[in-house]
Amino acid sequence: MKKNSLVTYLKRKRVLLIVIGIALISATLVLAFAYTAGLFGGRITTQTFLQDTPKTYPAGYRRAHGKGICFEGTFRASGQAVPYSIARVFAQQNVPVIGRFSLGSPDPYAPDNSTRTVSMAAMLTADDGEQWRMKLNNEPFFATRDAEGFLKQMEAYKPTSATGIPDPARVAAFLKEYPEAQKYVEWDATAPWTRSFAGAQYNVINSFILIDANGKKQAVRWSMVPHAPFTSWSVSQREEASHDFLFEDLKKRLEKGSLYWDLVLTLAEPGDPVNDPSQVWPENRRQIVAGTLEVSHVFDQTKGGCRDVNFDPTRVPKGITLSDDPVLAARAGIYSHSHSDRVREIGYGKATDAVGKPQKETSRNK
Ligand code: HEM
Repeated sequence: MKKNSLVTYLKRKRVLLIVIGIALISATLVLAFAYTAGLFGGRITTQTFLQDTPKTYPAGYRRAHGKGICFEGTFRASGQAVPYSIARVFAQQNVPVIGRFSLGSPDPYAPDNSTRTVSMAAMLTADDGEQWRMKLNNEPFFATRDAEGFLKQMEAYKPTSATGIPDPARVAAFLKEYPEAQKYVEWDATAPWTRSFAGAQYNVINSFILIDANGKKQAVRWSMVPHAPFTSWSVSQREEASHDFLFEDLKKRLEKGSLYWDLVLTLAEPGDPVNDPSQVWPENRRQIVAGTLEVSHVFDQTKGGCRDVNFDPTRVPKGITLSDDPVLAARAGIYSHSHSDRVREIGYGKATDAVGKPQKETSRNK
């Protein structure tokens, strides 16, 4: 080969190699993005947790706990948690609170007797600007040790089209993989259903870490413990209850005066399962009353200040941090996805009754 043609050949080859290199890098990036988004490889993403809901529920509503009511209130610290955490909320006398009571069902039109899960969400804003957001359920523990277990539980308990009930073989396979869920199944079958939002205890379920002035850490879980007595209903009372019984009861009680819950912190001891929300801690763990929440008013969620809030439980103030509970970590992304979907629908004018406008047939996300 002549010298000139050799140079041309090498130059061409170099260009070709560069082009191939760029193509390979681009393809790798596209594949990496597609994998991260869960488009192939069966990877579980936040979308996996929300997959059914956008088609089924009307625009603008939460993808779970769709039926709810906003509340306003005040948290008054007792000072008892100050030795454990520098969070200002534990010392401040009047912390304003925005919150929401809801049913566990995703359906915003669910009758109040259709689910045993009732919930409280709250956002405490201290005078140093730090916020503490939380979501609490009346269940005492989570069914499974991780978030994938939650998906498998949903799948296992889906009624089959042939029988209208869950397939016993699928349920058995789920319980074999997640034996800890048996405890939840038993609780669900036997524990009384609450007849009032006011008398329910709301539990954080996941674990968190308090940090004191010297940087010392203390793992905790907490509950909102009601001053109002717990009331349950018989099966027939429940079956006959009106569609909005629980929400009407809450409004009637608040017409007579405020409702109160103590914020009770349970302190873990070494060896307690901090990273497993399906395991309860021994009953003799030390508890302190960090303060009292007064709920003074409720507002329709279409207008109230809670509508567009993401009560993300990983949004904690200085002085509180997250544990390594895998369910807590998974929830942050799921909530953010649900929140951005619903506020986008509101922003683009797709929502109707979720924002207090008359519902059109087309407003459903079919
Ligand atoms: C992997 C498990 C879970 C999944 C997939 C899940 C999913 C969701 C979704 C999609 C929402 C709607 C969020 C929004 O649009 O703002 C929601 C709300 C809620 N979740 Fe979860 N959740 C899980 C675990 C839990 C646990 C363990 C608790 C209780 C400690 C809880 C309590 C709540 C409450 C109280 C709400 C309503 C909050 C509000 O009123 O804004 N969830 N959940």
